[in-house]
Amino acid sequence: MNDCTSSSRRTWLRNAGLLTAGLGLTRWQEARASFVPESVMAEQRLFGEFAQQVAQLQQLPPDTMPVLKARLFANENPHGIAPSAKAALEKATTLGNRYAWMEFAQLKKLIADAEGVTPKQIMMSPGSSDVLMATAAAFSQRGPILTCRPTYDDLLERATAAKGQILTVPSTADMGYDLAALKAKALSTPGLGLVYIVNPNNPTGTIVPPAELAQFCRDVAPTVPILIDEAYIDFLEPADRPVLGKLVGEGLNIMLARTFSKIHGFAGLRLGYVMAQPNMLAQIKPYTNGEFAVSITTLMAGIASYQDQAWQTFCRTENAKARDYTTKALKEIGYEPIPSYANFILFPIKMKTKLFEGQMFGQGVGIQTRDIDRQPYCRVSIGTMDEMKTFVDAFKKVVG
Ligand SMILES: Cc1ncc(COP(=O)(O)O)c(C=O)c1O
Repeated sequence: MNDCTSSSRRTWLRNAGLLTAGLGLTRWQEARASFVPESVMAEQRLFGEFAQQVAQLQQLPPDTMPVLKARLFANENPHGIAPSAKAALEKATTLGNRYAWMEFAQLKKLIADAEGVTPKQIMMSPGSSDVLMATAAAFSQRGPILTCRPTYDDLLERATAAKGQILTVPSTADMGYDLAALKAKALSTPGLGLVYIVNPNNPTGTIVPPAELAQFCRDVAPTVPILIDEAYIDFLEPADRPVLGKLVGEGLNIMLARTFSKIHGFAGLRLGYVMAQPNMLAQIKPYTNGEFAVSITTLMAGIASYQDQAWQTFCRTENAKARDYTTKALKEIGYEPIPSYANFILFPIKMKTKLFEGQMFGQGVGIQTRDIDRQPYCRVSIGTMDEMKTFVDAFKKVVG
């Protein structure tokens, strides 16, 4: 699952007031008429299952589906996929009749060389969600899953659905993962199944210092396995990233989950992987959809994108510029964004979440909201600079 899962989409729609038939439709039609020219609408039209849900739920004909000026609710890459990945996709179209085979080995070799693991310590998956869900199913049977909230809830929800138990420690005052508290709890709680850490964290955008995280792994992994979800790691400059692959290489019981959905822009193409000891991979494998769930087209595009450092640097740089602009603009009007190291920003708002989300949507801007300790927050994904200007303008209108 990802940020656009059907349940979160439904919640989002409900929050945005779109499931309230008459109200959503009227507001939407009004907004649609005023905010974007047809050409841009065609570009920005929401698609796939999400749009079908909207249409179904509102019983609208497809040409009245909602459109957005700025789609900032799912932490997607607004720049699309690399031109090199597009070229690889085109080449791959003639191979659609073949199962992927050597392509797995090729991509694993590239990843293994870059990360300091062996190809046998890598398992590919269609996005990282499959791996997270499988880990939840496999490890929650062994004992409680320990984490720090707020964090990315999908794995925890799956574990709960599988009748697993979740234990949490509170985050630090600045909304980061509290590694000291996690370590104390991990080492003093007998029978834990797994420690789950998201770094950079979603929804807060915070990171833990790389050296502290490496030390945490060395101290805790001999007792409890650790899964580190590194979905947003590529938004850190290479020199600032924790280098945990070598700990897998050393034999430590840690799992590193990665996705191509973010910096590579593969949210729709679906590609991810996990690095871990082969015996840990064997434990989660029966709960996954299998590596063949990844298509040959996606794999070939992934091989091109993984090697395309220039594209990754471009996306990282653009993200940082648009994030800085948005942070500064919010501060100028009295809001306090949590310093973010990812492609989204979380900040407290002064309106109820549903009302705020609905009003932003009415302005043609999709964002997410949530209450954390009864304080309403907005999480806005970083789009292009133009989209962030649209967001800031809409925000100013909505909050007055
Ligand atoms: C922290 C985190 N992990 C994992 C995922 C799953 O992404 P995907 O399945 O697209 O790889 C997401 C998606 O937004 C995420 O935010």
